[in-house]
Amino acid sequence: MTALPVIIDCDPGQDDAINLLMAFARPDRFDILGVTAVAGNVPLNLTQRNIRLLCALAGRPDIPVYAGCDRPLIREPITAHQVHGPEGIDGMTVGAPSVPLQPQHAVDFIIATLEAADDDGVTLVPTGPLTNIAAALSKVPAIASKISQIVLMGGAMREAGNFTPSAEFNILVDPHAAEVVFGCGRPIVAFGLDVTHRLLGLPDRLERIRALGNPVADAAYGMLSFFNRFDSAKYGSEGAPLHDPCTIAWLLRPELFQLKPCNISIETTSPLTVGHTAVDFWHVTTKPHNARWAFEVDSEGFFDLLTDCLSRYGGRGQDM
Ligand code: RIB
Ligand code: CA
Repeated sequence: MTALPVIIDCDPGQDDAINLLMAFARPDRFDILGVTAVAGNVPLNLTQRNIRLLCALAGRPDIPVYAGCDRPLIREPITAHQVHGPEGIDGMTVGAPSVPLQPQHAVDFIIATLEAADDDGVTLVPTGPLTNIAAALSKVPAIASKISQIVLMGGAMREAGNFTPSAEFNILVDPHAAEVVFGCGRPIVAFGLDVTHRLLGLPDRLERIRALGNPVADAAYGMLSFFNRFDSAKYGSEGAPLHDPCTIAWLLRPELFQLKPCNISIETTSPLTVGHTAVDFWHVTTKPHNARWAFEVDSEGFFDLLTDCLSRYGGRGQDM
């Protein structure tokens, strides 16, 4: 199987970090053209630093890191320090990154990479607000044909919002960017709270990770343990939902998820429901099916895959 050319756009954030560590562990499956930082969970200066720290932790200094947009297209920035901690990846050791930041702006990197690619040549994996992706598409619309698919974390349908009663964080932060992305005409696979809330970092699952006994798994265990505290208290669950790793997990093992083509429209104006994803799951409108929405997941299979990826940093991994 040829390694899939991907650009991962993210806002680490512990769950973004786990997603990156899964992708970094599989150079046989992913040709990571670059990782781009966006403002989201914490400000851009921290998200770009955190990506660089994770590249070093994973032994992947070969992966270029770019800083992108430091605020949403139109709305005022909001962050999630209360969830992710002051550093954004609290739970792992944070120091000065040895991996450099590339001088090119992330949006220009995305544009240049796509312009140089073949049609359908690159998979985009955004797991934060969609500001960088939307900015690139708005600046050079012709790059859309180079995008094979957009595999993103964002939105909610059956689950209520996690940042307002109506909206999930990534879409809420930049609903105008989400509107651009969901309107770009390229294939989209969307993992929202409906499936991520089924992927809880339960104690036995975290213990399996801790037992791997390699430095990356140790860092993942520390981040997941820290990440658990806020949502466990909020939802009254034993563990926090793991959001962003749905994207790389699906690319590795699509059979773990069930998807349904439907229309997803974004609320961008209502003060009460801005950021809401209106997922037409039962096709009650004639709107075009602009995405596939994930509605079922094999939770145990997901954590088996996550554990296997982390085992590859210092132990025997199984072919998944
Ligand atoms: O709502 C969950 C999403 O918001 C995740 O991507 C998490 O990292 C935060 O960015
Ligand atoms: Ca994220």
